[in-house]
Amino acid sequence: MITVLLISGSSRDGSTNAAVLRTAAALAPAGVRTVLYAGIGELPLFNPDDDREGALVNPRVAAMRAAVADADAVLVCTPEYAGALPAALKNLLEWTIGDAGTYEKPVAWINAAGPAAPSGAADAHDSLRRVLGFAGAEIVESACVRAPIARAMVGPDGLVHDPGAREQILGALTALADHFRSATAERSGPTITARPPWSSG
Ligand SMILES: Cc1cc2nc3c(=O)[nH]c(=O)nc-3n(C[C@H](O)[C@H](O)[C@H](O)COP(=O)(O)O)c2cc1C
Repeated sequence: MITVLLISGSSRDGSTNAAVLRTAAALAPAGVRTVLYAGIGELPLFNPDDDREGALVNPRVAAMRAAVADADAVLVCTPEYAGALPAALKNLLEWTIGDAGTYEKPVAWINAAGPAAPSGAADAHDSLRRVLGFAGAEIVESACVRAPIARAMVGPDGLVHDPGAREQILGALTALADHFRSATAERSGPTITARPPWSSG
């Protein structure tokens, strides 16, 4: 079973980005478990003084770090605010650097900026790429998709029902899980299923 942590950069009620991630959770294929992280708005502002060796880490930070550590991969869906990454998401990522939580962690994103967004939230995703680079995360390019979602595409159940958009959302989640599976198989090498004839016993 592969665990994918879903992180929305928006804590707004009725967020389209959160709707995309809820839809990803609803579409998760067999063998993929999703965990929707809901605490981004409650994290304290990052302060290196609170993240020193021996310091008692804030319990909300500890819970977020545990969720990242327990995940095999992370899928982010974030809006752009004022030409960059929302402060809340940057703050979360800053907290992951102290415990190297995102170091070498496979990460992908679904850019769901609405069709009316002038630059398609390109600046937010450029800054996300830069921050993830500093954190040492592994960006899984094959799983990063642009799937424009207008607010009207989110149903009263909080899910996206447009078939094309659902296909893109499922595609991102599947590509991320497939990447994790093949990277893990590569690391562990070929599986020996039969004993060679010269082996004893
Ligand atoms: C203060 C503020 C600043 C914004 N800045 C940008 C921006 O720079 N670029 C952009 O494409 N959209 C911008 N937007 C639009 C949001 O990205 C858009 O409303 C998005 O749907 C919010 O995501 P959510 O529905 O998940 O909350 C801004 C919205 C707000 C409220």
